[in-house]
Amino acid sequence: MDIKTLKISDSVQWIGVLDKNIRTFDIIMETKYGTTYNSYFINAQKKAIVETVKITSWETYETKMRQVCNPLEIEYIIINHTEPDHVGNLQKTLQICSNAKVVGSQVTIKFLQNQMGYNFPQLAVKDNDVIDLGNRHLTIISTPNLHWPDSTYTYLQEEQILFTCDSFGAHFCHEEMYDDLVGYYNDAFQYYFDVILKPFSSYFLRAIDKIRSLPIKTICTGHGPILRTYWRQIVKKTEQLCLEYLSNYPVKNRVLIAFVSAYGFTKTIAEKIKEGLEEVKEIEIDFCNIEKMDTVTLSDKVAKASAYLLGSPTINHNMLPQLYQLFTCMNPIREKNKPASCFGSYGWSGETNHILISNINNMKMKFFGETFFIKFKPQENDFEKIKNFGKKFGLFVRS
Ligand SMILES: Cc1cc2nc3c(=O)[nH]c(=O)nc-3n(C[C@H](O)[C@H](O)[C@H](O)COP(=O)(O)O)c2cc1C
Ligand SMILES: [Fe+2]
Ligand SMILES: [Fe+2]
Repeated sequence: MDIKTLKISDSVQWIGVLDKNIRTFDIIMETKYGTTYNSYFINAQKKAIVETVKITSWETYETKMRQVCNPLEIEYIIINHTEPDHVGNLQKTLQICSNAKVVGSQVTIKFLQNQMGYNFPQLAVKDNDVIDLGNRHLTIISTPNLHWPDSTYTYLQEEQILFTCDSFGAHFCHEEMYDDLVGYYNDAFQYYFDVILKPFSSYFLRAIDKIRSLPIKTICTGHGPILRTYWRQIVKKTEQLCLEYLSNYPVKNRVLIAFVSAYGFTKTIAEKIKEGLEEVKEIEIDFCNIEKMDTVTLSDKVAKASAYLLGSPTINHNMLPQLYQLFTCMNPIREKNKPASCFGSYGWSGETNHILISNINNMKMKFFGETFFIKFKPQENDFEKIKNFGKKFGLFVRS
């Protein structure tokens, strides 16, 4: 069993868990270097833990915690983010830390209540609140939407340590844990940023602004290396990536026509819509069959687009899974108010029409009002109507 703990400063110890062999994370992410779930014990006059770990790692986690403290002495469990990879073990942790209160933002407490289903000891905090641990003090920094609405950072004043959970992290597992000992992991860092945090770049820049004036010695992340040497470079790189993303995305008047088609009928509609759209000046078209597209490419296309035309046949009263996949690449904050509509071929019941409309509305996009669905094969005499639909949509995007 992995029993390694790591002394980070006078009072802070890493008690996280290594997950070397995980190869897929949250279903959608590749984790070819494994990952770590970082948790930290603060040995102050009042004792605290920052983050817990994923549910599958309980035994290792409990062993590590008991190695560094008597769980009954823990008074605070600080939660910066409530995704199950950070709080999956919270209920079990509370059972052994029976004198502890859970500390988190209002949203954090609400999300935890929904996940755990009972009323646990709690302390809701807001931006700039300070948790007094006697000889140590923790400042709560509100940093929402990184990447959930609940997120916060926590700053240990006396030792200048910033706990940032998913921010500045990476799915990268190396026993040495310190950024200066684990070797080069830029591709893991960049991939993590691209998939998890990039869509929230404007929030990330706000968070970076908030920590700019803080004296920092170490950034303790929620996944992967602890940044004791290169934190400045990592923060700077993150800032550059956010700025780059915000300046390139979305591209003005760029319409993503994304579709799947079993027999080519939906594809024909897509092609005719494209012809109509091409008649509108200054519209850029990204035309793609997304049947076999990987999520990174798809996410990039979704982010770049400033409008969407989404197509699928109806198969077994439903749209095809690639379209569901596309919606998981969307971000309701970023996609809000982007013009959108849908199209497709169907045989008899045609449920895809309303399923796509309701997804478009759920995402709070600006629904065009019209869609184009047709029974089986689009015929020659439909082509003009389809082109016209494309043209009208283009004018709607430009308006
Ligand atoms: C396995 C299967 C299930 C289908 N189920 C439905 C259905 O539930 N409702 C419907 O309207 N059409 C259904 N269809 C018909 C397709 O929507 C229709 O053939 C459509 O033209 C296919 O368009 P495509 O060539 O773009 O894939 C089904 C077709 C297949 C092959
Ligand atoms: Fe997360
Ligand atoms: Fe995470």
